[in-house]
Amino acid sequence: MKTLTPVAKLGEFVGSEVTLGGWVYNFRSSGSIMFLQIRDGSGFVQAILNKQDADDAVWEAAQTITLETSVYVTGVVAKHPKKEEYELQVRGLEIVSVAQEYPIGKKEHGPDFLMENRHLWLRAPSQWAIQRVRNTVINAIYEYFNSNGFTKIDSPILTPNACEGTTTLFEVPYFEEGTAYLSQSGQLYIEAAIMSLGKVFDFGPVFRAEKSKTRRHLTEFWMMDAEMAFHDQKMNMEVQEAMVMHIITRVLELNRPELAILERDVTALERIKTGFVRMTHAEAVKYLQAHGSDIKEDEDLGNDDETLLTKEFGQPVFVTNWPAHIKAFYMKPDPTNPGTVLCADLVAPDGYGEIIGGSQREDDYETLKSKIEYEGLSLEAFQWYLDLRKYGSVPHAGFGIGLERMVAWMTGVHHIRETIPFPRTISRIYP
Ligand code: 4AD
Ligand code: MG
Repeated sequence: MKTLTPVAKLGEFVGSEVTLGGWVYNFRSSGSIMFLQIRDGSGFVQAILNKQDADDAVWEAAQTITLETSVYVTGVVAKHPKKEEYELQVRGLEIVSVAQEYPIGKKEHGPDFLMENRHLWLRAPSQWAIQRVRNTVINAIYEYFNSNGFTKIDSPILTPNACEGTTTLFEVPYFEEGTAYLSQSGQLYIEAAIMSLGKVFDFGPVFRAEKSKTRRHLTEFWMMDAEMAFHDQKMNMEVQEAMVMHIITRVLELNRPELAILERDVTALERIKTGFVRMTHAEAVKYLQAHGSDIKEDEDLGNDDETLLTKEFGQPVFVTNWPAHIKAFYMKPDPTNPGTVLCADLVAPDGYGEIIGGSQREDDYETLKSKIEYEGLSLEAFQWYLDLRKYGSVPHAGFGIGLERMVAWMTGVHHIRETIPFPRTISRIYP
């Protein structure tokens, strides 16, 4: 293999000859000069080929180039006089593989066509940029937890019970054991792990057989759950806020070029500051009703409600103290606010919706047991979970962030399906 210079490193080689390996994502020629737009995974660069300066063989090879043809290009690096941009004066060109007629052209394609060709669409600069931001968000989450005393725990994907309600479970036949379910969240398992490790997090794919067709729902998505012993709901929200701020800081630090490709309004991200808005569910309902929503007292916030709620603030909003009966069985009631539980959904601004769900957990054995019975869940399946309240139970809290919703907010993409390499929705499992 040749020694290649990544496009992202061209700044270190101005005036020198380098070789790149990449794909031609656009090209044009005007008589005796050809402009090749090349991408190599690390960035994008224009390579200029002059017929006069080039060997005949090089010029002829260049004439066979089609969109997405893979190439080695050798040339001298030149810097744009004003901008941090580089180009290549081509000396040598080797075709690796001439691409057949590429299905994704320059004309507008509908989302169905692009999704059907997701394996190719991933190469588009916008999709490249989104995946780069996704990578930053993932790394920022790891950085935050690793530097704040958390241990990563891998929770199982095949589980015997539900975590987030029984209506959105994917069932898997499981040998003699009967039915297993794909995990909706690792939360219950990392609750066990904190009794060993204090503060833990997991990060992996989770599954929801949700019949929701909105721009915020996938059936397979990535979640990071965090759980902390000796933490109450107030401390829980402080951790969430610090983590979200760290993610935003890193995206703004590392991904300006990607955000520019995506035409993301970065001022909206730069404006986010600590001290996120906090209001109870009851306050949120009143606010929404006053602003034209028909939401009722005991209802979940709809997508439009979430958008409306953050409009005025331009900041994330913690919606706390939800009515107990519309939240999960494991949440602890708030003694100071009867009928509500110690929990919060964090709603992102600009219409990106709920990005985090978190709560303080019920830590009393009898209360939790009656809640499980009341919800009609199987005591047998949850015996291990109840055990945690029998042997040295402690106040504890945690939360889960949906990676794709966070990436959608950072990148400003409209539909969450663009934030995951191969999205699964109720009507799509190909490619
Ligand atoms: O609010 P959820 O359901 O909370 C839990 O699963 C808790 N067990 C987490 C915990 O406390 N450890 O899901 C958490 C987040 C949501 O806020 C949202 O960002 C995302 O997961 N999410 C989805 N993302 C994409 N598609 C879906 N169908 C999603 N459902 C939830
Ligand atoms: Mg939720």
